[in-house]
Amino acid sequence: MHFPLSFYVLLVSFLGFGVLTDASPTTDSNGYRLARGLPPLPPRNFGRNVPGYEPTPVQRARASASPSSVAKYSGRLQVRSDNGTTIGYVQDKSGLPVSHGSDLRISIAASSTRKEHLNIVATATALPSPFYVGASSQDSNATIGTGSSSTILFSNVEQTDPLSPPIATSNGYIESAIWALNSTTKELTAQYVNPDGTLPTTFLAYNETGSNLLFVGDANQTSNLVKLFVVT
Ligand SMILES: *[C@@H]1O[C@H](CO)[C@@H](O)[C@H](O)[C@H]1NC(C)=O
Ligand SMILES: *[C@@H]1O[C@H](CO)[C@@H](O)[C@H](O)[C@H]1NC(C)=O
Ligand SMILES: *[C@@H]1O[C@H](CO)[C@@H](O)[C@H](O)[C@H]1NC(C)=O
Ligand SMILES: *[C@@H]1O[C@H](CO)[C@@H](O)[C@H](O)[C@H]1NC(C)=O
Ligand SMILES: *[C@@H]1O[C@H](CO)[C@@H](O)[C@H](O)[C@H]1NC(C)=O
Repeated sequence: MHFPLSFYVLLVSFLGFGVLTDASPTTDSNGYRLARGLPPLPPRNFGRNVPGYEPTPVQRARASASPSSVAKYSGRLQVRSDNGTTIGYVQDKSGLPVSHGSDLRISIAASSTRKEHLNIVATATALPSPFYVGASSQDSNATIGTGSSSTILFSNVEQTDPLSPPIATSNGYIESAIWALNSTTKELTAQYVNPDGTLPTTFLAYNETGSNLLFVGDANQTSNLVKLFVVT
């Protein structure tokens, strides 16, 4: 029994497509690129060695909708200085300070297709609501960026939509869906959305006096940059 060579090429190509989809989660969605003013990514050319073969959008959608691709992370939020030493843990207390209390327990739902604009939600908490970990300011035009020493508070906030600019609440102008998780290192990085919709590079800094974290837009305007990790 002989199949034409092209059958095997096609079969390998299909298998390769499935494996590639599971093993290389999207790290830069087109929505996110567009919001940053970047052009959309070109379509991935899975079948480039097989003339006439083109994956259909239906096949891609099915591959990425697999429930096994949903990953839930839970634990505590560890704050480390740039040199790797542990400063402390985010506390289960209003305003989310880094000392004096008990460690906040959190949970994050990510997936192979969604690793950005994530929410961090407090679980089994003693906190009065709101229960999301995000950014909060009293200024309706709280803007961070290069050349600016502006800071925005890291605090417990209400839930907001991915890529939403700050939303007015009784606790100030807030954002929650600003987190990206590196599934290897478990580092959490933030992407704040300025009121004008721009996406400034967002750093975390530690205010030692107040034992609280801040979002800043210019690494040169602060000496206390820190990193945030999910740990058990
Ligand atoms: C690491 O950085 C922290 C904060 O800047 C500092 O207090 C500590 O001494 C540093 N540790 C080392 C080993 O450099
Ligand atoms: C908001 O802040 C930015 C940066 O400080 C400034 O350029 C802009 O004019 C402000 N917008 C309003 C409506 O105040
Ligand atoms: C996760 O962190 C590692 C180590 O810094 C880095 O090599 C890798 O590219 C990061 N992954 C993503 C998806 O950013
Ligand atoms: C740091 O914390 C102190 C004490 O709470 C506060 O007075 C100060 O404004 C904070 N600094 C920043 C940049 O938020
Ligand atoms: C920070 O300062 C260094 C040295 O002055 C400079 O090379 C770098 O471009 C600055 N970075 C930003 C984001 O301003």
